[in-house]
Amino acid sequence: MAIRGKISLPGDKSISHRALMLASLAGGESRISNLSTGADVQTTRKCLEACGVIIEDNKNDVILQGGDYIDPDQPLNCGNSGTTTRLLLGLLSGQGINATFVGDDSLSSRPMDRILDPLSQMGLKSESKNGKLPITINKSTLCGIHYESPVASAQVKSAVILAGLGAKGKTSIAEPILSRNHTEKMLDGLGGKVSIDGLTTAVSNLMSPLTPFKLSVPGDPSTAAFFAAAAALVSHSDIQLNCILINPTRIGVFRALGSMGINVKYLEQWEEAGETIGNLNISYQPMKGITITKDEVPGLIDELPVIAVLATQANGKTIVRGAEELRIKECDRIHALCVNLNKMGAEIEELDDGFIINGPTPLNGAEIETFHDHRIAMAFTIAGLVSEGDVVLDHPECVSISYPEFYKELDRLQS
Ligand code: S3P
Repeated sequence: MAIRGKISLPGDKSISHRALMLASLAGGESRISNLSTGADVQTTRKCLEACGVIIEDNKNDVILQGGDYIDPDQPLNCGNSGTTTRLLLGLLSGQGINATFVGDDSLSSRPMDRILDPLSQMGLKSESKNGKLPITINKSTLCGIHYESPVASAQVKSAVILAGLGAKGKTSIAEPILSRNHTEKMLDGLGGKVSIDGLTTAVSNLMSPLTPFKLSVPGDPSTAAFFAAAAALVSHSDIQLNCILINPTRIGVFRALGSMGINVKYLEQWEEAGETIGNLNISYQPMKGITITKDEVPGLIDELPVIAVLATQANGKTIVRGAEELRIKECDRIHALCVNLNKMGAEIEELDDGFIINGPTPLNGAEIETFHDHRIAMAFTIAGLVSEGDVVLDHPECVSISYPEFYKELDRLQS
């Protein structure tokens, strides 16, 4: 069995969330195609609709009327989605909305004080359960601040920027390492006043609505990474990933695959709506272990679970440090990797801020605890391609958070 063929992925999850939110700030009708098919993006859509935004499906596109927001009459259910919660906390605070945010057990255990701290410095009045959901925001007048973010987080940066659009004066945020930059890029393209100086992004109050837009969301590189990893793992594999977002803040995984010895070829590349998109070819080669340092982590944070799976089949040590943020994702991903890779017979050492894997080791089939985390489920499905015996996931359905079509497409590419 090898992994071969061509695949196009649904739209990038990060850009899909932002496209819906920014279209809601536009003065007229926007049309978005190739939106992410994942449940998280549907969650953002439902929350915006609950705030009075009119969103309709038209064939495969979504049409959205920007305009005024209303206070939702029910709590906003953010499900499993950290991006929905954190970005909407910023956006709706800036728009003077009264709302309560709730979520599932995983989301309710994740830190939201990283958003409430800067927003309260801007003047937001809110209540939370020790910095976690449920959170209630109360209509407040926000004033611009300069915020030095202690974490390299695009969600923190985006929340502050979106709040800044409704704040008096100028709002700026500096981050320690560059995180994904889609919010600032999109805003800049749509008439928002954005200035970027190194690691500092500044915005001003949006005096007039953003320009309505048409956007085809480029394919999600974080989802593409699982297919790239499958091709890297299974001998004789060769796949083409079409129309993938290749923004430099998102393609750390492809850099890492290249350093491991995998053939990663960029075929055509082009620009659309300020983002770079490309077709990539990935083919099998024996792999060697690599070291991933703190500076590289934001560029591949969501891909570390599948990189860990690859590391079990690479020659030598793979060392990942500076990745403590993994502990507060949809689950504690360092713990989830250690528990499950140990079950499969891999050699993994747990660190506070990462892990060390010594490869190569044969992998056994095992019963995998997904912790209801889509990226853990997908990473261990990929591990199952080379395991001796079956990998059985406790909650396979959780892949629908980002990519409901995952198993079907993986089956299609196996020959
Ligand atoms: C995201 C940013 C990242 C990432 C998440 C999506 C975004 O989180 O892990 O899946 O769309 O802004 P952090 O910003 O918290 O690192």
